[in-house]
Parts: sequence; structure tokens; C-alpha cells
Amino acid sequence: MDKLVIEGGVRLRGEVTVSGAKNSVLPILAATLLTDDACIIKGVPDLRDTSTMLKLLRSLGKNVEVDKGVVTVTAGKAANYIADYKIVSTMRASFCVLGPLLGKLKKARVSLPGGCAIGTRPVDLHLKGIKLLGADLKVEGGYVIAKASKLTGVHMYLGGVYGSSVLATDNVMMAAVLAHGKTVIESAACEPEVVDLAEFLIKMGAKIKGHGTPIIEIEGVRHLHGAAHTAIADRIEAGTLILAALITKGDILLKNCNYRHLGAVIDKLEEAGAQFTRTEGSLHVRYQKPLNAVNITTLPYPGFPTDMQAQMMSLMSVTSGISVITEKIYPDRFMHVAELNRMGAHIQREGPHAIVEGIKELSGAPVMASDLRASAGLVLAGLAARGKTQISRIYHLERGYENIEEKLQKLGAKIWRERE
Ligand code: EPZ
Repeated sequence: MDKLVIEGGVRLRGEVTVSGAKNSVLPILAATLLTDDACIIKGVPDLRDTSTMLKLLRSLGKNVEVDKGVVTVTAGKAANYIADYKIVSTMRASFCVLGPLLGKLKKARVSLPGGCAIGTRPVDLHLKGIKLLGADLKVEGGYVIAKASKLTGVHMYLGGVYGSSVLATDNVMMAAVLAHGKTVIESAACEPEVVDLAEFLIKMGAKIKGHGTPIIEIEGVRHLHGAAHTAIADRIEAGTLILAALITKGDILLKNCNYRHLGAVIDKLEEAGAQFTRTEGSLHVRYQKPLNAVNITTLPYPGFPTDMQAQMMSLMSVTSGISVITEKIYPDRFMHVAELNRMGAHIQREGPHAIVEGIKELSGAPVMASDLRASAGLVLAGLAARGKTQISRIYHLERGYENIEEKLQKLGAKIWRERE
């Protein structure tokens, strides 16, 4: 297994291009199951998670070709409707093949994904929505077995205790596009990745309105055709790179970056004293003066993203003052706290809050990655720390950050990979 080694203390400077959004691409690839025609998806990042989704599509009978970020999906000899435990258990987003399989084949057998390092992560909202569309559902042997002679549009409320759900909205939307009649999803997720999926479905012939708002309306159609689509830029990768610039007192121009998708993050960082220049398709961030501590609360979009919480905690660890970080999406997503404290941070966890007392400097240490965004937080901490940081279990990072070492190296970071 590889580990990442970082020699901290270098100010990052230069230009970097943000990759296509992992969390857009995963459901969009699942949506190709809705047609037998060819679909071409561009801007697909080369990641462990995207490879897992391609493997799942192949196991479901699709032919998949990959060429430099362009994925072409065509129908294979026979469609399969069973999404196997071995694949689904390695990546939760695989569960969103349920909606398209059911929509297209009227039957699906999809392994339940189970929990993960950031929490229990139930799928009750996915199942509620699919059931309301008229499917017969049962759970047997760890699989959801779904069938429907026909799916029928319905008005549903899809909010849960923690608000809207991104993948449940995706899953239900993908089942509803081929249902009879009109579906209305209330309390739908508004994340840009949901909008991107809806745009792809519309290119395939779906009739969808209201995506990007909490009420999505879908008029079912008889069949969908092939389409080509370019995924939006990854706002979480962009946000992570912004924080890499700030935590190292640097200056970075992000290309292929939609600043409109980063409203809450930029707003908080401006409140902390960071400087931004927004242009169409790019964002310039520079450190000009010591930042102030700010409080953050994670919320569904357009609120501050939970996927940026760990990285923000690293920045606040070295920002003078006290910052209260409240996690409202995954109240247990704090695995990085103990690791940051191993680097000298002063962070105390109290239920869904972390109280961060900013210190002058972190010191490099061996630390362990626990999930994707926690790993990104540790990379940021390592970039700022005095001395050497060694991050083990970096396969978590490989799930969601394309060529992260190369990108950071180009900005001047001393970061490399070593065999453990
Ligand atoms: C998506 O996961 C993202 N994954 C996650 O990104 C992200 O953290 C999350 O949205 C929140 O923004 C992908 O898009 C592939 P949710 P998802 O359903 O859709 C609860 C990353 O690091 N809930 O929006 O699975 C849930 O427990 C990853 O890139 C239910 O209660 O998240 C959470 O508290 C990790 N019942 C809240 O809703 C359900 O049926 C929001 O989760 C579903 C969710």
C-alpha cells in the first residue's frame, strides 16, 4: 500500500485545472442504463469511484470504452438486473442504479450498500420514493428486490430528518423519467450535481422541470435515447484547492471552476479575510493577510457542503481565534479530529460540534486517512505543517481526487508517494 509524504511550509502558487465532478459523473453513468443507445460522457475523472461505476455498468451488461476522460457506453449482448454486493459494498453511489434498472427493465436486484466511515447512511428515502412510484419492494439476503409491471407518476415528499438527499433524489428521478404520468418530488436535493444529472436526462429525451429547486416535476416519457454530455467541474475539488492556497498563504488561479457552485464556501472565506476574483470559468484566490476564525454549519446546497467540512477544519486549526464547526448532515463525520490533534491541533468534539482553537503552526506527523474528505483535510494540514507528514491509507483519497499529487506538485508543493 502507498502512503503520501508531504514536506510542509511551501506557499502554493500557479494555475490548476479542476477535474469533472465525481458526484455528477457517478449518477450520470448510472443513467446510461435507461437506454440501449450509445451515450458519451465527457469530463469523467480517472478515479477509483468512477472505475467502480464502470465495472458495475459492465456487470449489468453494458459495453464501456474509456479514452482520456471520455466514456462511451453502449448496449452489450444482454442486460443484467443484478447489482452485486461485491461492487455495491465498495461504493455507495452504486445504489443509484436501482432507479434506472427499474425504470428500464421493470425489475432490479441491488445490494444494500451498508454504512461507512462517515455514518450509518440509510437508504430509506430511496426506497420510499421508488415504492411510491408503484414498485413492489422487498429486502432479502442483503439485496433490495424491486419489480413493477408499470411505474406511475405520483406527488411525493422526499425530505428526511437531515433534509434532502442527493442520491435519493437522483434515484427517484431516474425511475420517474420512464413512469406513466407526472411525478412531483418535494424537498428534492438542489445540489449542482442533481441539476447536471437532470440536464443529461433531458438530453436523453426526459421531461424535467424545476431541477435546482426543492420541487422537481417529471413528466414520464415512453423511452429515452442516447446523448452526449460534459460533466460540470468538481466544486469540492475546487474548494479543496482554494483551501490549499489559503492554508499555505499562497495564490492560485483555478481553471474550469464555476464559482457560482461555491457560494457558501467563498462567502465564509471572504468573511475570514480571503480575497477572490471571479471570472467566467475561473476563480483566483489569494492570501493577503492573516485570516480570522469563522463558524461554519454544514447544510444541504446552497449551504456550506459537508464534503468541505474536514478541509475547513484544517484551515481553522491554524487560524487565530475560536471556530465552531457544526455538522448537520453526518453528525459523526469527525474521524479527522483525532488525526489533526496528532499534528498539534486544538480541537474538541462535542456531539455534532467541533470547537477549534487556532494555533500558530501544526507539526508534521504520521496520520491515517479514514474517508475521502478527511484525507483531503489531512493533506491540507500536511501542506501547512512544519516538517514531514505521512498519510497512510491514501486509497480513500484516490476515490475522489484525480492526480492530486501532480496538481499540488505543479503548484510547488513537496508531496510524493512512498511504499509503506
Ligand atoms: C451525496 O451522498 C454525496 N455522494 C456525498 O459525497 C455527500 O457527502 C452527500 O451527498 C451530502 O452532500 C455522491 O453524490 C455520490 P445524502 P448521498 O443522501 O446522496 C440522510 C463524498 O465525499 N439520508 O444527500 O448518499 C443521510 O444519512 C461523498 O464525495 C437518509 O436519512 O447523501 C444524510 O444525513 C461522501 N435516508 C443526509 O440524508 C436516505 O435514504 C444527506 O445524505 C438517504 C440519506
